[in-house]
Amino acid sequence: MLILGIESSCDDTAVALVRNGRQVLGSLVSSQVHLHRKFGGVVPEVASRKHLENILPLMDELLKTTRTKPSQIDAIAVTSGPGLSGSLLVGLNTAKALAYLWKKPLIEVDHLAAHIYSNWIERKLLAKFPMLALIVSGGHTELVLMKSYANLVVVGATLDDAVGEAFDKTAKLLGLSYPGGPAIARVAKQGKTEPLPRPMLEQGLTMSFSGLKTALARAAKGGRVPALAHEFQEAVTDVLVTKVARAINRYQPRALLLAGGVAANQVLRKKLAGLAQREKLPYYIPELKYCMDNAAMVALAAYFLKGTRGHEWYNVEVKTNSWQLKYERRNS
Ligand code: KG4
Ligand code: ZN
Repeated sequence: MLILGIESSCDDTAVALVRNGRQVLGSLVSSQVHLHRKFGGVVPEVASRKHLENILPLMDELLKTTRTKPSQIDAIAVTSGPGLSGSLLVGLNTAKALAYLWKKPLIEVDHLAAHIYSNWIERKLLAKFPMLALIVSGGHTELVLMKSYANLVVVGATLDDAVGEAFDKTAKLLGLSYPGGPAIARVAKQGKTEPLPRPMLEQGLTMSFSGLKTALARAAKGGRVPALAHEFQEAVTDVLVTKVARAINRYQPRALLLAGGVAANQVLRKKLAGLAQREKLPYYIPELKYCMDNAAMVALAAYFLKGTRGHEWYNVEVKTNSWQLKYERRNS
């Protein structure tokens, strides 16, 4: 089964072709990072306009480079949320138009589920259910208990900023470039600075990262950037690892999965690897290019979720447009 995936929930326009939920024939991502850099974050209106420019040329390139004809595609999968509404609309409407034109069934996929499924791209996980997934990106910080392929339950989340967002905003405060995650990781160096709080450490699986910015802004007056960046990275990863440890204790999963753009963070990866080793749990992280937003994960999620509740395939039909009829009548 060949699925065309489409992703446009934030600032990356992405398309991919995946065969049988595993083999990626092609995965293209057009990043807008350079456009948003001067604003220090994603500007929704700029993002949706750029998606509109990008999506069809990217689709053409995918079909050309993979030598695929539309007739060979079995179904289309698209991210339907959560995300920026203007951005989502571009991917959704492109998917609907192509599904109508090419007469293909369409399936809408949750962006979080797609991030989790990035762990299955081009590999078979030997671990058994239940699994615990930590999704950390610019828009998300969620702990998800995966009881089966289609049974995903959010068991913990942030109350305010997502981890990636906290990295981006903190980098801005420190005068570093966007995206903030890699910028903070690059300059971080142990040194003398005021310790930052580890927010909500004792509060179950709930997290909060927005207050850290204020604490950092205060500490910044006396501290040096490398030491502050180091302490911020330590504070955030300490909180995440504590929450993951608590969730492991509570739900006894049989594997630990990491997903999302912040999964690129080496300190987080190492701390979680240590935890997984202590707990004797298999630990999986997708290849770096699949940690970031991409469309291969959308096609994969559709493959695993198809037919389950809320993930029915549907055919796109265009009914005769009554507004158009009236318009024609008025003109005649
Ligand atoms: O998953 P992603 O590509 O897009 C969203 O869905 O948001 O994640 C982007 C986020 C940005 O906030 C970026 O600062 C963060 O991932 N990020 C990192 C690192 N690389 C990217 N955060 C911490 N450390 C990194 N090395
Ligand atoms: Zn994402």
